[in-house]
Amino acid sequence: MSDYTSSVNKHYGKAGLFERISDQIVESGKDISALTCDDLSSYDELHIGGRGETRNMSKLAGITKGKAVLDVGSGIGGPARTLAGEFGAQVTGLDITEEFCRTASEFTKLVGLSDKISFKCGSALEMPFEDESFDVVWTQFAAMNIPERSKLYREMFRVLRPGGTLAIHEIMGASDTPMKFPVLWAPDESISFVRPAVWVRNELAEVGFKENHWNDLTEFSIRWFQKKLNIGEDGKVARESASLSGADGFTEQASNVVQNMQDGAIVVIQTVWHKPNKT
Ligand SMILES: C[S@@+](CC[C@H](N)C(=O)[O-])C[C@H]1O[C@@H](n2cnc3c(N)ncnc32)[C@H](O)[C@@H]1O
Repeated sequence: MSDYTSSVNKHYGKAGLFERISDQIVESGKDISALTCDDLSSYDELHIGGRGETRNMSKLAGITKGKAVLDVGSGIGGPARTLAGEFGAQVTGLDITEEFCRTASEFTKLVGLSDKISFKCGSALEMPFEDESFDVVWTQFAAMNIPERSKLYREMFRVLRPGGTLAIHEIMGASDTPMKFPVLWAPDESISFVRPAVWVRNELAEVGFKENHWNDLTEFSIRWFQKKLNIGEDGKVARESASLSGADGFTEQASNVVQNMQDGAIVVIQTVWHKPNKT
């Protein structure tokens, strides 16, 4: 395992994650043998806006029954289960964190979606897929951990079929204002690779994608997180989120993310592009 891979695994993949979340679900009075995606939704959508933003981007990206979707940086599988369970997509999740891949597969089995979703552990910079394999390439809050961004976008272009859709929801840079750490995706700069929004937009066009939508969700994201942090004061959300990090750092990390948005250091962008058809 490279130093980079092991640092990302160390940040996200605290051992026993599936068991920790399962215990909390049982403690909250739910029957784990009759688990639903709703029971998981406050644990498994690891991006600002939660499942609501997954649904919004699904609509923008035209996800419909049977579409082959690649979720890059699929986490513990929340977005994949939403895309498959609610929109009927056939989803492949790719993630570099081994513990996340195991947790994603276990919960997907428990909610009965294993025929529609598979997870592969691997790097987004060397995708283990044939050219033109997917109708949609999807990613939420993963690229800010990925260093060679031009390579990432070239890989996304390669595995997408002509006419296919690229959907991105992520944090991007907005100014030279330095970011406060720790944040939810990184303890410090060593695994944080936030790129300026202007640069990302140019780079996607450079690689060959054509833009359909570009939405700045920063104001909404600030309000969403402030609400989540307030809810956290009575313990509920903070405890659920801490179960992911295996530590109590959630409040400080989330507060820094809000501060970084308010300082104008970062923005949250949701953007949809397509790969032109062959002429
Ligand atoms: C903040 S989580 C988001 C997970 C998921 N997209 C979601 O929204 O619920 C970021 C994810 O990106 C993954 N990731 C980071 N670098 C990666 C890489 N080079 N290749 C694949 N996955 C990566 C992490 O392991 C982690 O699961």
